[in-house]
Amino acid sequence: MTLEEKIGQTSQRGTSSMGKGLSEELITKVRKGEIGSFLNVTDSQTINFLQKTAVEESPNGIPLIFARDVIHGFKTIFPIPLGQAATWNPDLIEKGSRIAAIEATASGIRWTFAPMLDIARDSRWGRIAESPGEDPFLASKFTEAYIKGFQGDLSSPTGMLACAKHFVGYGAAEGGRDYNIAIIHEQLLHNVYLKPFEAAVKSGVGSFMSSFNELNGVPATGNKYLLKTILRNTWGFDGLVVSDWNSVTEMIPHGFAADEKHAAMLSANAGLDMEMTSTAYEDHLKNLIESGVIAESQLDDMVRNILRVKLKMGLFEQPYTRFNHSIFYDEKHLVSAKQTAIESIVLLKNYNNLLPLDFKNQKIALIGPLADAPHEQLGTWVFDGESEHTQTLKMSLSEAYGKNLMFSKGLAFSRDSLTDKFDEALEIARKSDVIIFAGGEEAILSGEAHSRANIDLPGIQEELIHKLAKLGKPIVLIIMAGRPITISNIYNEADAILMAWHPGTMGGPALKDILNGETSPSGRLPVTWPKTSGQEPIYYNHKNTGRPASEESFVAIDDIPVGAWQSSLGNTSHYLDAGYQPMFPFGFGLTYSTFEYSEMTLNKASFSIMDSVLITFKLTNTGKAEATEVVQYYVQDITGSITRPVRELVGFSRVTLKAGESREVTYTLPVENLKFYNIDKEWVVEPGDFNIWVGPNCQEGLKSSFVVD
Ligand code: NOJ
Repeated sequence: MTLEEKIGQTSQRGTSSMGKGLSEELITKVRKGEIGSFLNVTDSQTINFLQKTAVEESPNGIPLIFARDVIHGFKTIFPIPLGQAATWNPDLIEKGSRIAAIEATASGIRWTFAPMLDIARDSRWGRIAESPGEDPFLASKFTEAYIKGFQGDLSSPTGMLACAKHFVGYGAAEGGRDYNIAIIHEQLLHNVYLKPFEAAVKSGVGSFMSSFNELNGVPATGNKYLLKTILRNTWGFDGLVVSDWNSVTEMIPHGFAADEKHAAMLSANAGLDMEMTSTAYEDHLKNLIESGVIAESQLDDMVRNILRVKLKMGLFEQPYTRFNHSIFYDEKHLVSAKQTAIESIVLLKNYNNLLPLDFKNQKIALIGPLADAPHEQLGTWVFDGESEHTQTLKMSLSEAYGKNLMFSKGLAFSRDSLTDKFDEALEIARKSDVIIFAGGEEAILSGEAHSRANIDLPGIQEELIHKLAKLGKPIVLIIMAGRPITISNIYNEADAILMAWHPGTMGGPALKDILNGETSPSGRLPVTWPKTSGQEPIYYNHKNTGRPASEESFVAIDDIPVGAWQSSLGNTSHYLDAGYQPMFPFGFGLTYSTFEYSEMTLNKASFSIMDSVLITFKLTNTGKAEATEVVQYYVQDITGSITRPVRELVGFSRVTLKAGESREVTYTLPVENLKFYNIDKEWVVEPGDFNIWVGPNCQEGLKSSFVVD
């Protein structure tokens, strides 16, 4: 390959379809073999044309890879990734990403920029919607599932190259403001932020994306420590690394690169293989190599990484797509999307067992800006899913229970500030037995560049809820949003609260089945839910501090609006006006039954590094309905060479029991899994005392302890 051809492989360009921006200049470049990949080309005619030009007319006949953000479905849209994380069910995630791959590859897309693996501890950050939540263990389990699902058999026509992004620290944006700096000390980086990415390498992910942010002063896209020392040398990754959109040239405003040539030099030397959209590599690598600033062997390594992936994808044997649009929105895909939406829904409150509702004998007033908003319920990062296929809550309920259902949006959209439809909403509410208010955030209020400083319900939704509450009827609040929404001001107004995230194409039927009791809710929070955004960042696996606010000093403030509460918990770590507890803890979620945990035992009291801790306990469904419990196991390493979190998730499993049924449940925890990156920068299990819990969330459950010697 000539120097130009090699450099061409490192270039990923965006273009639109034929006749709409595909320039002669780009076509000529493809013909000369000087482009490696395209993003966001989706029409079959253009894809075929470009691929044919590359394969049949360029000197080496190297195929292109067509990439796209296929984040939570291609046509059939699944719940947003944060919602998928709330299922605590990796099997569903694998199925969903397989379906996304089947639909996208049928359109010629063989590379998705997903999964996003950024640990997110701050709900103000708009991209928390795309994240697996705050926990590295849960995130790693989902990573494995996503990659298996997306890639399948990578060399087959439905294999879609996955991309672990954003490497790394993007979710730690200071203040939750998108693109902001990340300051993460080395132990925290290894023990939390890198974990899902290492799981991605172990799962055989074929590509990585460097993140927009700087990490401890060095932009990720020019960060040798991340891209070479950790990714290649420590983890042995042999796939390709692509930049984020213009993130090579954005190192100039970061104040790290002086100009585009300098940016190209820094990225190439750091080990970044492919540049997305900006053209610093195309414009400057030749000169940098010819003048000896970059060794040609560096470029050879980059090109090898790219070609190795293309080979693994079978693109040389089968460069063309057999377009098959008949599988879009296939019935099986819709069934799977519905099941994922069902399992993602978290029941946060169910006062007096208001839910499930008796739709046959009750008059229901359905109100709210998200009750019938086909586009909004799909959520962020939906390029290809069409809202005409969305089934909303209103559609599903009126189809099933038309005569008992009255509907009035009340507010045209979530940010609406007009009260002109309040009267109509109040009118139907007055005639009803139960009010369902479906509110939340429009799709555009979360996702990239959509951070919020105040994460209350936007617009005047609270005002409408207060007015409805004055009628004295029971209220079910359904929240559809890309993040936890602070609801302290309206918590007492709602009798039941369901978090439905942005549930996707099949959100309506999924909610219907939960509301009518056909199925019991089984979603659990993958993220800590704050009382007020002033508590952010807030996460369960925090450190204890020298002055923790303790249970003894804790005054329950659940029933008191945040602003009205002013009390001191002494010289402990807390807020005068928000205490120290979240609104709902990580792992929390109710169902239509109750579960009792009892008889917890461990197989031994002390263990060596080679052992496994065998935890056994009895789980009983003590309620009146069949339901699924998400059993969670947490450990605390009580002292360490660096301080350790108060609890860390080390396992979970879903157990479904009939009413009254009991089961002995066991879980095997290899002691080796307790290792952490310690003060000496080594992965070790430090001998000492450990606490262990099994329970329904990170704050409750049975406790035991053991020693590692
Ligand atoms: C920027 C986003 O940060 C990234 O996640 C996405 O894949 C690219 N744009 C391409 O659309």
